Amino acid sequence: MTVRSLLTVCSLTLGLGFVGCKGAKPDGPLTGTESLHDLMESMESASKPLFDRSAGAALTDVDVTALTASASRVQAINAAVKTRFAGSKPPTFAAHAEQLEKGTQEVLAALTAKDAAALQAATKSLGGACGSCHKEFK
Ligand code: HEC
Repeated sequence: MTVRSLLTVCSLTLGLGFVGCKGAKPDGPLTGTESLHDLMESMESASKPLFDRSAGAALTDVDVTALTASASRVQAINAAVKTRFAGSKPPTFAAHAEQLEKGTQEVLAALTAKDAAALQAATKSLGGACGSCHKEFK
């Protein structure tokens, strides 16, 4: 592909508002056509607020709202990863995605309960699910 046609493709996709030259914007709406790589970059930015919390930090109402949005986004991205990519992988891939789903549910339950200690534990199991899938598949 020539530089010129590449630039055209990039400006066209930018014009659509969802994707740029580097693929899906991490925080953009899911389109159903992202590569696994792009979904993982979104996964990283979505989960960051959860992983960035310091241990023992108070859980304010503002935190609860923001972290609920983060966990819901992780859940949505994970569902897309499982639906679109598990079929071409060994069954353990789906099992890791299910562990991550379980982790997000624990996080959401802890947030509903406004339980900072439970949130910390749930975030740890969430991170464990990222790590065990990466160990096998990344
Ligand atoms: C079901 C399996 C699975 C789970 C669960 C999973 N990942 Fe991934 N992740 C992968 C695979 C496979 C790759 C390599 C993808 C590629 O680059 O082709 C990857 C790559 C990545 C990358 C590198 C992106 C890149 O390709 O440069 C980041 C960052 C990442 N994952 C973050 C996360 C985070 C954060 C979580 C948990 C919240 C998570 N992942 C959960 C399978 C998973």
